[in-house]
Amino acid sequence: MISRASSRAARPLTPDAIRSGLKTERFGRTLHLYDRVESTNTTALEWAEDGAPEGTLVLAESQTKGRGRMGRQWISPPKLNLYLSIILRPDGDPRHIGLWSLTAAVAVAQTIEQATGLPARLKWPNDIRVHAKKVSGLLLESALHKDRLKHLVLGIGLNVNLTRDALPDNLRNSVTSLREELGRELDRIELLQRLLEQLELQYQSFRTKPPQKVLETYTALSETLGQTVTVQAPDREWSGKVIGWTPEGALILQKTDRQNVVVRSDDVIHVRQNNAACD
Ligand code: BTN
Repeated sequence: MISRASSRAARPLTPDAIRSGLKTERFGRTLHLYDRVESTNTTALEWAEDGAPEGTLVLAESQTKGRGRMGRQWISPPKLNLYLSIILRPDGDPRHIGLWSLTAAVAVAQTIEQATGLPARLKWPNDIRVHAKKVSGLLLESALHKDRLKHLVLGIGLNVNLTRDALPDNLRNSVTSLREELGRELDRIELLQRLLEQLELQYQSFRTKPPQKVLETYTALSETLGQTVTVQAPDREWSGKVIGWTPEGALILQKTDRQNVVVRSDDVIHVRQNNAACD
């Protein structure tokens, strides 16, 4: 569990504090920390284009244009949360991207559980939720060259010490922070270190183990499997029961007419769990 001392909880992010006690080989070893950027993903994509090594971490105390999936805004007030992006250079097959984003979601959920004891669950495709409210989201962006993957940037927003009153009214029932769920502040640096370690571990097993293993771990933490959902895409929507994932990490939905449909995460605007109080 992460330290209770309130003085540590309020520590600002500094490169030295982040590196001290970090037990990774590559993730976070090259580190660019900013007070404020438009989006850590944008900055990381620029560093990646300039040849930054795999595992390079781009981190900011605040973002002015933090972005989520489907062009949504990611609320990024200063010094409360974690906004980070990691540069990855996996082998060039773009079909594996969806699976890597599920792997990263597992790493975030496991970090939350280990650091706080809170039950973190996964809502497909990229949401990490605690007590049915979103606490973290992932945004994976890639650069391709002639159909091969040049690099990936994994962006993670994790609401750590954000308070409910900092959220707009329309998000208060569906978004939360670790502090709100735990009733105390957390040290962002310790949390970040554990997150980088977990991401590196999961990334290694993602590269060496068959896709089935990734999906098994994802499924164990999923709150979407078995649910009746409505999946909204830009031009249509489907309702049905989630019965699993393809080896590439796309959702398999059994529609009410019992036909199966496969939905890729890139095509999804929103997944509504039909029996949930809030989503
Ligand atoms: C989502 O849930 O829609 C994804 C949210 C991803 C937010 C993070 S914050 C760090 C990184 N920089 C961004 O602009 N977005 C990601």
